[in-house]
Parts: sequence; C-alpha cells; structure tokens
Amino acid sequence: MAKSGQHGGNVIQMAQEHGLKPEQVIDFSANINPLGMPHSVKQAIIEQLDCVEHYPDIDYLKLHQAIAAHHQMPVQQVIAGNGATELIFLWANHIKPKKALLVEPSFAEYRRALARVDCEIVQFNLRESEQFALTPKLLDALDTSLDALFLCTPNNPTGLMPDHNILLAIVARCHALDIALFIDESFIDFMGNTPSLVAQLADYPNLAILRSLTKFYAMPGLRLGYLLSSNEALLGQMRELREPWTINALAALAGEVLFSDTQFVKNTLHWLEQEQTFVWQELSQLSGITMYRPSANYLFFKHLEPNSQLQAQMMKHGILIRSCANYPTLNQQFYRIAIKSRAANIQLISALKEVLHHG
Ligand SMILES: Cc1ncc(COP(=O)(O)O)c(C=O)c1O
Repeated sequence: MAKSGQHGGNVIQMAQEHGLKPEQVIDFSANINPLGMPHSVKQAIIEQLDCVEHYPDIDYLKLHQAIAAHHQMPVQQVIAGNGATELIFLWANHIKPKKALLVEPSFAEYRRALARVDCEIVQFNLRESEQFALTPKLLDALDTSLDALFLCTPNNPTGLMPDHNILLAIVARCHALDIALFIDESFIDFMGNTPSLVAQLADYPNLAILRSLTKFYAMPGLRLGYLLSSNEALLGQMRELREPWTINALAALAGEVLFSDTQFVKNTLHWLEQEQTFVWQELSQLSGITMYRPSANYLFFKHLEPNSQLQAQMMKHGILIRSCANYPTLNQQFYRIAIKSRAANIQLISALKEVLHHG
C-alpha cells in the first residue's frame, strides 16, 4: 500500500494531526481543478445512476470510442483505466523492464510500479542549479542497457514543462535504442494548446502516453485515466490479462460525456490563466522563498530556511500544502501548492506572508 504521506490530498489525517476538523482545512496539496466536476458530467451521472445495477460493458467500447475520437486515433490504440495510476502499474507489468531510468524528482508511482516487477532503477537527477529543467544531458544518459524511461510532462512536483524539441529528441533516441518510453501527460490539459507528444505516437510504437482525467475534470474519487500507444499488440495483451471491470460504470459514463463539454475546458483555462498569473505575481515577490514559474495548475517552491517547518506553520492557518520532503533528491525545504479559486488563493497568500513575516 502507498504510505499515507506519499501523496497530496491527505486532508483527514493532516487535520487530525493538527487538532482540526477536515472542513477547517483548505487543501492546497492535491492539484484538482477548483471549478469542480463539469455540470454536464454530474447531470449524466444523476440521470443514469441506475446503470450501476448492471455490470459495465467489459470492453468499455463507448468509453474507448470517446477517447479515440477526442484524439482522432484508432480505438485499438486506447486503453482506459481506473485512474491513470492503474495504467502505470499495468504498463510496467507488461513491459517488465529489467532496467529503467527515472528522472527525479517526479511522480512516485513509477518507482513503485517498477519495484513490483523487480526492475533495476537508475536515477537521473534534475538539478537545482539548473532550476530543475530537463536538459539535453538526459540524452547522454540513454543507452542500450536501458529498457524503459519514465517522463512526466509537465513534471510533478516541479510544474515544469520540458522544451518540446528536447522531448522530440528523447523520443527519437529511445526509439533508436529500443527503450520503451512512458510519457505521463496527466497535467497537460491545463496547458491549453501546448504541444503534446500524441502526434508522435503513430511513428513510434515504443512510446506510450498517459493521461489522467481526475485532475482536470475534478473527479479523483471517481477514478479515470487512459493510455495511448500505437503498439496495438501491447495494448491487446494488457486488455487480455487485466482484471475485468476495473472501471466502475459511473466513471465510464463520465468519460463518455466529458470530452463534449468544450465550455468547461474554456472556463478552466480562463480561470487558470487569471489565477496562475495572480498567484505567481504575489508569491514571486516574497523573500525567503524561491518560486519556480508554473506551467500547469500548481507551483513548486523552496523555502530558504534549512529547518523549514512551513507545512506545520501553514496548518495553523488551516492551509494544507504539500511537503516535497519525501521525493528523492528533495528535502523539507521544498513544497508544492495547487492553484485554486481567487478566494482560496488570497487566503494562501496572506497566510504565507504572515508565516514568512511579510504580513
Ligand atoms: C503525474 C501524475 N500522474 C498520474 C497520477 C495519477 O492520477 P489518477 O488520479 O488518474 O490515478 C497523478 C496523481 O497525482 C500524477 O500526479
């Protein structure tokens, strides 16, 4: 089991530890769209609630067709999962890499999925001295001894999106070296028109792209994600061997309707454009922290106090921020915060100012 402190969103336990009720805490530790689940999805679920009285379609055909149509891809190149997380484990379990390269810091579940298949893990560390940017140095770290590479774009927790040309060079090099490349684009929907690597799928069967629908569509409790790859044989095997019905009927229904809600996408991007700028402008002025410019719906920063207790101090203001102390290569000075509604962001900013003695 994942340890409770390993991810954000751990409001109940954190509230308890600080003598608060969960409803007294504003959660900035999980990066979920504050607009909430689209009304169109809620409506569909309410109207079709009775669908839970039946088993879902074991092939989830309508769901896969909706995802395939959204990306204009053949349906055989799509596999949906119970959250993106299920697909990280499923993919690792099918590729069974003997040796994989992980870029750190990044999302913790890649390492756990690889550990399950006894994979040797080699670490490529992003450097604070290079502002945690992914540089072409990664290309030099790729060689034929590797079977797999995981990349998170934009990266979690740093919030940084690698340069597209570097990503294209990595895709080509992994192909040439026969390295299975897993690209996690779970937060890319928050980046509007930023180019994804989906366009490369047709030419590179070694490439798999992961998307989560739980963050952008604010449904982490419902669970839905998908993986795209032109390696139809691999996806066929994954379908064949996985447990049946891992996606519940309501999550499948949500996935069938959510791509039609283009207004929700516009509203989300509009909110984020405003709030990303607002929070960045306010926080980047503060002394005592180093902020990294965000590309998605969360910000990463360093508290310049070696014995930082910022998470506990912010909890005194009823604000839960994500400590990044448990990421390889990071320590208790690094934090991640979600971008939320204007009202919540104002509370965060004023609490942070007070804690950092600016208020
Ligand atoms: C980078 C990244 N990928 C995948 C996931 C898993 O998302 P899901 O809720 O769809 O399982 C997360 C969740 O935090 C994440 O941060």
